[in-house]
Amino acid sequence: MAAEIREQPAVWRTLLANSEAAGVDAAAAAIRARRPRAVLFVARGTSDHAALYAKYLVEIRHGLPAGLVSPSTMTAYGARPDLRDVLMVGVSQSGGSPDLVRSLAVAREQGALTVAVTNDASSALARTAHAHVDVLAGPERSVAATKSYTAQLLALYLLLERVREVDGREAAAPLPDLGEQVLARTGEIVALAQRYRFAQRMLTTARGYSYATAREAALKLMETSYVSAQAFSGADLLHGPLALVDPQVPVLAVVAAGIGGAAMGDVLPRLAERSADVFCVGHPAAVADAAVGFTLPDGAPEELSPLLEILPFQLLALHTSVARGGDPDAPRGLSKITETL
Ligand code: F6R
Repeated sequence: MAAEIREQPAVWRTLLANSEAAGVDAAAAAIRARRPRAVLFVARGTSDHAALYAKYLVEIRHGLPAGLVSPSTMTAYGARPDLRDVLMVGVSQSGGSPDLVRSLAVAREQGALTVAVTNDASSALARTAHAHVDVLAGPERSVAATKSYTAQLLALYLLLERVREVDGREAAAPLPDLGEQVLARTGEIVALAQRYRFAQRMLTTARGYSYATAREAALKLMETSYVSAQAFSGADLLHGPLALVDPQVPVLAVVAAGIGGAAMGDVLPRLAERSADVFCVGHPAAVADAAVGFTLPDGAPEELSPLLEILPFQLLALHTSVARGGDPDAPRGLSKITETL
């Protein structure tokens, strides 16, 4: 897991240099030709968080409705929705879970244009879709996905920008250097992991593009450190779950520069009222107000910030697991490919 976390800037460089060979241009051309009226994503786990990020991109930058499907409707329940004029994107590191393959196959039969975004061009999901984008992360051995996640974010960003005839490689060019800057500060997170050594519960929260980061941070902490970590959008947190916040429940907040971070402006004072122990990843002013924080480097637009934001949380999950005497490379009860229906 540690090695794959470190590899991420190199993975992004590879994808930026080879996006055409990865299938970005061809998939974007197929999407432009079909002019879909709505976009659906199907994915599980970490890949579902990459899909959630892409849902924000579609809703904000394409002005189209977007959603995450519930695979059981088309697998267990056998539903056959009318998917004409819909783009269905399957996101999966392995491209191997039967529910995703079946959902994409049904979507294709039901009239959708289908695109698979995977780390395995020979996978069943890639073969099922009309078009495939390879995230080019290289073999991922750690059960806890890290480099495939940020490669999915970047691949989805490049694809969706290309659909609106923008070359996303320009805005994304600084990311590998910025990622290296973040990872060079691993020592800060190793020290922080001691703080959470005995935490039983945690909350993660963010808004906008960063909501995907909050979800993914919670999953990484659950599977490697066995902390009961729950993710809420900052808005949802205020609609009830705020009541469970007390100084014993650390809150991990993502407050990136931009509209999503500004929308957290209502949330942070409410957390302070509850005397919450807040770890903030984000822009300097937000970090200064938190109990502990990690300032992100400038240089990435808000919509690309999730690639950088998740890095300290991946490191936190890894080092909290180690600090608790666990083995982040062998999470109990899990295997690399989970097959569900
Ligand atoms: C978490 C993790 C899992 C997978 C999920 C989907 O670290 O690896 O949540 O993301 O099982 O797997 P793929 O992406 O192969 O469909």
